[in-house]
Amino acid sequence: MPATKVVVSIPDEVPYDVRIGAQVLDDLGNSLKRIPRVANASRVVIVSDTNVAPLYLAAAKESLARSGFRTSDIVVPAGEDAKSVEVLGEVWEALASLKLSRDGAIVALGGGVVGDLAGFAAATYLRGVPCVQAPTTLLAMVDSSVGGKTAINLEAGKNLAGTFTQPAFVCASTATLSTLPEREWACGCAEVAKAAVIDGDDFFFWLCDVADDLAQRDEEAVIEAITRSVVFKAGVVAADQKESQGVRECLNYGHTLGHAIEKLAGYGTFSHGACVAEGMRFAIRLAQKEVGAPDELVAAQDELLDGLGLPRLGWKAAPEEVLSAMKGDKKVRDGKVRFVLPSDVGKWGLLHVADEAVLAELKEWFA
Ligand code: NAD
Ligand code: GLY
Repeated sequence: MPATKVVVSIPDEVPYDVRIGAQVLDDLGNSLKRIPRVANASRVVIVSDTNVAPLYLAAAKESLARSGFRTSDIVVPAGEDAKSVEVLGEVWEALASLKLSRDGAIVALGGGVVGDLAGFAAATYLRGVPCVQAPTTLLAMVDSSVGGKTAINLEAGKNLAGTFTQPAFVCASTATLSTLPEREWACGCAEVAKAAVIDGDDFFFWLCDVADDLAQRDEEAVIEAITRSVVFKAGVVAADQKESQGVRECLNYGHTLGHAIEKLAGYGTFSHGACVAEGMRFAIRLAQKEVGAPDELVAAQDELLDGLGLPRLGWKAAPEEVLSAMKGDKKVRDGKVRFVLPSDVGKWGLLHVADEAVLAELKEWFA
């Protein structure tokens, strides 16, 4: 299948391409030669993790070398713990040891963890060097590599230190997805489903039709799902880059309960995507009561998530404990829990829901 390209155009930012296809990592060097602020980079430092580097670092370096780039690499431990002050400090020091200058560039080769960490390092080292995102998980391809959020975690919570800094280019090589574990695959599928419900009929009903194909990693379905998700996210970010206009928050659909489950069950017990899917199932039922979401949508979304390999978790906790965890989220305002609630496919609102209504719905959900 030929590669596809989506152009991300955000007001007051340099537009950038997202290339999606099986061979695009092999073509990374050529792609960078076409980007004015990266084409003459004196050095390109690839940041990757201990799982991804043995699989794809050599291919990325060879492609860059073929185009005449001098390359170096920094490999961080795989997993969420790498998004820490300590590892960020090590990356900064390594960049300085490599004498990376402002006319250099960084490539983030990995999942959302590497993307967020390397993106933050690039945004801050020497007050900013260009960053190329080369996502290798489905989640990173459909969500985190696009839109410019970079972050590390603090003791006080996830993603509490970061920037909004758009990448110079995104290279989404679908060939790298062949080695992605099943749990991570389903995790990315949850973000595709989220995007489809929020986006509208065309994406949603297409996804319902191909859910099994996507779950089986059919190449055509995968490239189309990534492309549609990127087009959707690019539109959202163009409308509200800094999450200040009440638009970008739609990307939190399913995340209010999802984050609470991740926290209460213990990070890593369930994948982020599995928790988001559970949160979507809960939110659509809340939306039935609060904003009149139709029964057919509840059933269609359930079927979609089942088809994508995201069954109900069967996880339970005391409703009061869950509400309290929801209130601990950094996105809570004035102690009120807010939900992205779709009244139909492509129609959503950000609603403060009264504690009593949330508790009643949680009781029903856990019954
Ligand atoms: P991840 O980066 O931890 O990757 C998941 C696992 O898969 C890791 O063990 C990784 O080493 C491994 N892996 C990655 N690619 C692989 C491949 N091709 N083959 C085999 N193994 C591979 O997790 P993720 O789900 O990609 O990203 C989660 C992170 O993304 C979180 O920190 C979250 O906060 C962040 N995020 C950021 C944004 C944003 O807008 N910046 C949006 C959503 C999520
Ligand atoms: N939470 C995903 C984003 O805003 O980009």
